[in-house]
This record gives sequence, structure tokens and C-alpha cells, in this order.
Amino acid sequence: MKLPVTPFRFAEFRRCAPQFPSHPVFLNITNLFTIFAYYTYSMKRILVTGGAGFIGSHLCEHLLNLGHDVVCLDNYFTGSKMNIVHLLNNPYFEIIRHDVTMPIYIETDEIYNLACPASPVHYQYNGIKTIKTSVMGAINTLGLAKRTKAKILQASTSEIYGDPEVHPQHEGYWGNVNTLGPRACYDEGKRVAETLFMNYYFQNNVRIKIARIFNTYGPKMNSNDGRVVSNFIVQALKGEDITIFGDGTHTRSFQYVDDLIAGLVRLMDTDDSFLGPVNLGNPIEITIGTLAKMIIKMTGSKSKIIYLPLPQDDPKQRKPDITLAKKELGWAPKVDVETGLEKTIEYFRKTLI
Ligand SMILES: NC(=O)c1ccc[n+]([C@@H]2O[C@H](COP(=O)([O-])OP(=O)(O)OC[C@H]3O[C@@H](n4cnc5c(N)ncnc54)[C@H](O)[C@@H]3O)[C@@H](O)[C@H]2O)c1
Repeated sequence: MKLPVTPFRFAEFRRCAPQFPSHPVFLNITNLFTIFAYYTYSMKRILVTGGAGFIGSHLCEHLLNLGHDVVCLDNYFTGSKMNIVHLLNNPYFEIIRHDVTMPIYIETDEIYNLACPASPVHYQYNGIKTIKTSVMGAINTLGLAKRTKAKILQASTSEIYGDPEVHPQHEGYWGNVNTLGPRACYDEGKRVAETLFMNYYFQNNVRIKIARIFNTYGPKMNSNDGRVVSNFIVQALKGEDITIFGDGTHTRSFQYVDDLIAGLVRLMDTDDSFLGPVNLGNPIEITIGTLAKMIIKMTGSKSKIIYLPLPQDDPKQRKPDITLAKKELGWAPKVDVETGLEKTIEYFRKTLI
């Protein structure tokens, strides 16, 4: 269902967007251009499941800035109202407290399915619930997409490649996942979700998109969920020991959240014939040891690095092959690690006080 921007809705939009002058006398060429764009632009109602989480809250804000009507659905397991509180006075933003394991009935044009705990501490807290969130969440959101004829995008993950034997990982690689290990509830849940997406496409012609997201960091990450970037920054800012699991030589590639959001929106906007899966990540590799040293330097911390054993099934290397994203989405990450870390450190400096 498309909601055209009628003059009435446009007037409402102007009232809620203070940067828009309310009287024509203030209009300059840029404003006229922007108003023309909104006037002719088709405003969509977009559902973001997991919208109060780290990535979801950035996505909600971005979609609102693009002039859409955004519904954020979340059960607040790992998300927080603090991530979205600044959006609440926008009349085109709604929040629904709901669990994706239960069906939901609303009218929507697009669905970004992000609801799922993403860090090992959280997804291992209740593995069965994590599997249900991935699998039932996919079934319920796909059912909704089928009924409303909405386009639906799945936030899949590089974890579906497991501990990869192919490096860098391209979308044709089927992965190396231990189905019995502690990470399996997340990895296998996400793999089944991909399969469900494909089957809803084959059987019901649902318009699907699959994004395989690699390590993403930025402001609004949860400070205590054990993800490496937030962990190191918080430890450095508090002057605590920085804990490296392993000897620090294993690598990761980190993408800044703004780059990911741009990639997700581009993927959603592709033609219906492009389904993915497509890798969205930053291919620049960095060792965990180097990351720790960078963060110590950038925060001016006196923290020391300590080394602990690697957790079971922790992948030694992760690096996306983004050839497909470049070709099909015209997308590549733009934010270098220093700039991204600076913004993230600034966020944690403010929120840890
Ligand atoms: N951050 C990354 O590096 C990364 C990498 C790969 C994939 N992803 C995927 O992106 C998505 C968002 O990740 P994130 O980093 O923002 O994590 P997050 O934990 O900050 O966000 C997940 C959100 O989903 C909500 N949620 C969890 N279970 C739910 C349920 N049953 N019903 C409704 N809401 C529920 C949480 O409360 C939270 O707001 C996840 O699906 C994750 O698997 C993230």
C-alpha cells in the first residue's frame, strides 16, 4: 500500500520538521527543491522490527529523515527506549511493544526484520528463545509481508559462514557452522530464517531481500553486551584491563553503522528481481590486538591489555567480499575506522558519565 504525500500530509510534515520554514517568504532554492522532492515522493509506511536496538534505532531515524512513516516494533530484550526517545515527538514515528515470535497485523509497505539479540552474551542467555525469535520472527514477518504485499528485508549475518574455511567470504560460500555449539542458536536460527525467506519467495512470490551483515559498530551499542568494540572502549574509558580473547592476532573487519544503514536502504530499493543474499561489511581487516591499541591511544587510557582463552567456535577470521554489493547496490563503506571509532568513543564518553 502506497501512501501518497497529499498537500494535507505535507503540511503536517512541515509542522513537525522545524528545519522547514512555515512561510513561503523564507523559502530559498534549496528548500523549494526539497519540498518539491517530498511533494512528489511516495511516502511509505515502514515497519522496523528490533527498531529500539543499536542498528534498528539508526535505521528508524534515517527512514524518518527520508520522509517515511516509521513503525518501530520491539520487546526491549536488548534494545532501549533511550535509543529512540529523541524520535518520539515526530508524528510519523510510532512504537509498538511486541514480541516477533507472535503474529502482528498492521498495514505496511516495507519491513526491515532486525529483531534478534546479536551479541553472544545475549543470544546465549536463552538459546531456545533466540531460535524462536529468528524462526518464528521470520515466519510472522514474512506472513505479514505476504498479506500486505510489502517488501521485506532480513538482517542476516556473517555468522551464517561460521568459522569460515574460505577467505574472504563471498555469498556463494555455504559456511562452516557447528550445529551443536554454543553459537548455533544464533547461527542456525539465522540460516533457517534465510531459508524461510527463499521459500516465501519461491512459493508465494513475496518480495524478499537478504542482507548478510558483518561486524558493525557505532554509537548506541549496548555498553555491556561483550561486543569487542564497545567492550574495549568501555574498558579503556573506565581505566579497566582490556580483555583480549586469544592472542590478539585473529582478525575482524568492522563497519561503521552509517555505512550499514546506507547499504540496507539501497538493498531495499533494488528491483524486485534482486533478492540477495548480499554481504554488507567493511573489507578492511584489523587484528584484535591492533584495535585494542588504537582504542587505548584514542581514549588516552592507561588500561593494560590482558589475554584470556578464546571462546568455543570463535571464528579466527572474518572479512566480507563485497563485490556483489558494489555491483548491485553501487555501495561500499565510506567511514574509516579512526573516524568511526572517534564518534563511538565520543558517544560512550557522554553516556558512561
Ligand atoms: N551489530 C552487528 O554487528 C550485527 C551483525 C550481523 C547481524 N546483525 C543483525 O542485525 C540485527 C540488529 O542487531 P543489533 O546489533 O542492532 O542488535 P540489538 O540487540 O541492539 O538489537 C536487536 C533488537 O531486537 C529486539 N528484539 C530481540 N528479540 C526480540 C523479539 N523476540 N521480539 C521483538 N524484538 C526483539 C531487541 O530488544 C533489540 O532492540 C539483528 O538481527 C542481528 O542479528 C547485527
